Amino acid sequence: MTLFHAASNKVSSQNTVETRLKIQRLLEPTLVVSLSAGSDVIKGLTQTPKFLPPRYFYDDFGSELFEQICALSEYYLTRTETAILQQYAGEIAQITGSCELVELGSGSSTKTRILLDAYYQFGYSLRYVPIDVSAGMLESSARHLLTDYPTLQVHALAGTYEMALTHLEPTQFPTRMICFIGSSLGNLNPQECDVFFSQITNTLEVGEYFLLGVDLQKPKHLLEAAYNDSQGVTAAFNINMLQHLNRQFEGDFDTTQFEHWAFYNETENQIEMHLRSLRSQTVQLRSLNLNVHFEAGETILTEISRKFEINFIQQELKAKGLVPQTVWTDPNQWFALLLCQLQP
Ligand code: AVI
Repeated sequence: MTLFHAASNKVSSQNTVETRLKIQRLLEPTLVVSLSAGSDVIKGLTQTPKFLPPRYFYDDFGSELFEQICALSEYYLTRTETAILQQYAGEIAQITGSCELVELGSGSSTKTRILLDAYYQFGYSLRYVPIDVSAGMLESSARHLLTDYPTLQVHALAGTYEMALTHLEPTQFPTRMICFIGSSLGNLNPQECDVFFSQITNTLEVGEYFLLGVDLQKPKHLLEAAYNDSQGVTAAFNINMLQHLNRQFEGDFDTTQFEHWAFYNETENQIEMHLRSLRSQTVQLRSLNLNVHFEAGETILTEISRKFEINFIQQELKAKGLVPQTVWTDPNQWFALLLCQLQP
């Protein structure tokens, strides 16, 4: 990694990791939270067809498996978006200038480093606000970043996007850019996507930026290979959701009695990931006081991953006042990065 330090970014002896790091936990395990926890699981497992919210993928092991998925040869998304960022991060930095960079679902912040390098190269000061539900992941990646970027300020928010967006303080920087990269928009259904764009619009001031990474439509065999990798990491990621539920809600899912199933739904333009019950069985989630019956072959929808057309997503954004200024893509047009600016 190359680091550039602008003259105005001199490191002082006071500039320790501790003084530059602030972590705010928005998800305290209060009574209220624990009482409402699991209501989404009850709702999803008592409906026909059954579904589970994708957020249950991401316990510590699930987050680790997701990192492994990103490195798989079949999972073209990460390397394609990374290549676009590597090519155009300098342009992004030049457009926004010094800014507060808010990242939704920051995870390990690997791709963010490409942006940070570009801002440092141009001598722009920066405050990084990573937002993630995993407080452990947030803290460890923030500490690594602060060691590698000696003038960076990090204000990490541990919580959901919805909570964190309402907790953003007015920025001291000339502008703000909210980043939602990694194709996570694809995991929202059209209604959720609409609400999410409205939240972005309500959070930004006119003239501020929204950087969005979306996966584009492409031949079915490429898409299906990305979600059915030959090493079975995606299958393990999917199955791990049941282990997570077992731990969190005193469940007795027998993970050998469910299988991973992912396919591209060409009508909805989305990958669908399911867990399929291999036999007729009843599962108990004791702390939720819930018994769930599965017929043999019955499935739980665990995730959708929508694949977009550039024109469609541009129209959706524009309708919310998020006007795409520049759209970058790769030579195969597999993935797109859109830099939008909020207009009145
Ligand atoms: C996080 N999200 C963008 C991933 C995706 O591709 O939809 C999650 C994932 N599911 C299976 N593989 C990766």
